[in-house]
Amino acid sequence: MIFVMLLRLLKKGAEADIYLTIWNDRKSILKIRKRKEYRNEILDNRIRTLRTVREAKMMSEVKTFGVSTPIVFFVDQNKFKIYLQFIPGMLVRDLPNKLIINTCEKIGKIVGTLHKNGIMHGDLTTSNFILGSDELIILDFGLAQRTEKIEDHAIDLRLFKEVLNSAHVEIVNQAWLSFLRGYGKIVGASRKEKIISQVLVIEKRGRYANVV
Ligand SMILES: Nc1ncnc2c1ncn2[C@@H]1O[C@H](COP(=O)(O)OP(=O)(O)O)[C@@H](O)[C@H]1O
Ligand SMILES: [Mg+2]
Repeated sequence: MIFVMLLRLLKKGAEADIYLTIWNDRKSILKIRKRKEYRNEILDNRIRTLRTVREAKMMSEVKTFGVSTPIVFFVDQNKFKIYLQFIPGMLVRDLPNKLIINTCEKIGKIVGTLHKNGIMHGDLTTSNFILGSDELIILDFGLAQRTEKIEDHAIDLRLFKEVLNSAHVEIVNQAWLSFLRGYGKIVGASRKEKIISQVLVIEKRGRYANVV
């Protein structure tokens, strides 16, 4: 019998390594959370287990309210591994500018739906969305949290705005407005305004912290 182990490293991240592999005849992504040498080993194991389990749980849970995420094939929490359905497509980060602007409205709708259902993503970047053949898929739920608080939801928006500002500076304004349009369609105008005010509060605080 010939046994071929298919494993191709796609990305070495700060927190996890990402491999392309096969799971039960299906193309799969294997995400392994790595040891951080500077962290105490027991604490480090606890953090990696928590994030692995949280990611798998959240990815499955958000499907129940209509947010598209990869199917979780298998979780090995003792080895900090998750096998996910491989999603073909392009990262939103790598799309042409015009398409990024359009897609930001869809991102806004997805984020609005998460927030409306009491979930904060915790790491909203344009590398955590894949534009597939007919839908937009959101990834990377290791830092997601259950919270209804305006302050927490505003942290999600603030991070996404920062990402647009640094990775997509030529289109930041249009992309941000597009995002807010989508977000508002889901959470409603009044909630949207409250969150935006909170984002401004966080930004002011940030600037003040830079001065002193
Ligand atoms: N299910 C998937 N299908 C296709 N590509 C994926 C999938 N999961 C992750 N990736 C790719 O790997 C990258 C990193 O994965 P991610 O879960 O965001 O981990 P990290 O914590 O390193 O950001 C993504 O930006 C994407 O390019
Ligand atoms: Mg990511």
